[in-house]
Amino acid sequence: MVFDFIDGGSFAEQTLRRNVEDFGSLRLRQRVLCGGSAPELSIELLGQRLPMPLLLAPVGMAGLLARRGEIQAARAARKAGIPFCLSTVSVCSIEEVAHQAGTPPWFQLYMLRDRGWMKAMLDRAAAAGARTLVFTVDLAVPGIRYRDFRSGFAAEPSWERTIRRLVGGATHPGWVWDVLVRGRPLGFGNLSGTHNNQRSFAAFWSWIRSNFDPTATWADIEWLRASWSGPIVLKGILDSGDALQAVTCGADAVIVSNHGGRQLDDVVSSIRALPRIVDAVDGRLPVLLDGGIRSGLDMLKALALGAKACLVGRPWAYALAAGGEGAVAHLIEILRQELTTALTLSGCTDLTSVAGSLDLYNRDT
Ligand code: FNR
Repeated sequence: MVFDFIDGGSFAEQTLRRNVEDFGSLRLRQRVLCGGSAPELSIELLGQRLPMPLLLAPVGMAGLLARRGEIQAARAARKAGIPFCLSTVSVCSIEEVAHQAGTPPWFQLYMLRDRGWMKAMLDRAAAAGARTLVFTVDLAVPGIRYRDFRSGFAAEPSWERTIRRLVGGATHPGWVWDVLVRGRPLGFGNLSGTHNNQRSFAAFWSWIRSNFDPTATWADIEWLRASWSGPIVLKGILDSGDALQAVTCGADAVIVSNHGGRQLDDVVSSIRALPRIVDAVDGRLPVLLDGGIRSGLDMLKALALGAKACLVGRPWAYALAAGGEGAVAHLIEILRQELTTALTLSGCTDLTSVAGSLDLYNRDT
């Protein structure tokens, strides 16, 4: 059930697949005898110096993947010097993550009907030390994720699903011990008091489903701008017109994203959407990208097409589930090594020269 929650997408999962496949259809350009030492990976992003152009994307309920999962991932990110973005719907609260990980995370929020709750949450995030707000705009309503219904993750409880969960637990005793026994409390740290303090999935889904706000407009982003003093990053931009609106509304950055193929299916992959958004924005704000990044080569391709930095979602979620903080740290190091190697072999001495690292004449599709 938990694996399908991470691994799955919406509808027939076409965009989920294309996010990855479209990276595979881009060809890099091999250059030789270019000289230069190890390429410099560090960037300046929203007033923060990052040692490499990578962030951990918000992943809801990561505390179900490993014991106090958000804290473990945030620690790995802090040790690598990169931002960890905490989801609204995390198991650990923002206060717990800021305190236990040793640094405040970036904070992700959705547009919810209850603006009073949103304002209180923004104040809480600021008080916990968060400076950068990632505001997710592609979730007017949740995408339909059939795997979560089939597995019972998002469906009403029934005898059959209870039996399936019990069988799942019996066949994954390590997870039961790590998460269900030692990982308590397993509520939704930031949502306490919102769904009558019930902790069941059913109560959570019903609260969250009834609270996403499909009536939100760009005017609400102006409200948000007035309610948050730090940088605001709009996540879920796939259209150049929307990117221009983001510039007009005073966003500080955008993330080209289709929510990892979990919202509207059959939309363009993130990497294909990127160039037109970079063109539209024309340097007025940084453009980040997530969706389908699975290696340092993918990172290089995104950077070559104009992304300032990349975020990974599932890769760190899988790593966390497989081996906790150490595995997330290992993942970050693998991506760093792959990016460094790919830059060198494509003749780039630093990130300012990545634009030429794609072979534009040799694209599969
Ligand atoms: C997500 N994503 C997400 N995004 C967000 O803004 N808030 C959230 O709570 C979540 N939760 C979430 C849970 C899970 C299990 C996944 C896989 C994804 C989307 C995430 O931030 C990011 O956009 C995608 O994961 C990027 O695609 P990749 O890297 O998974 O291919």
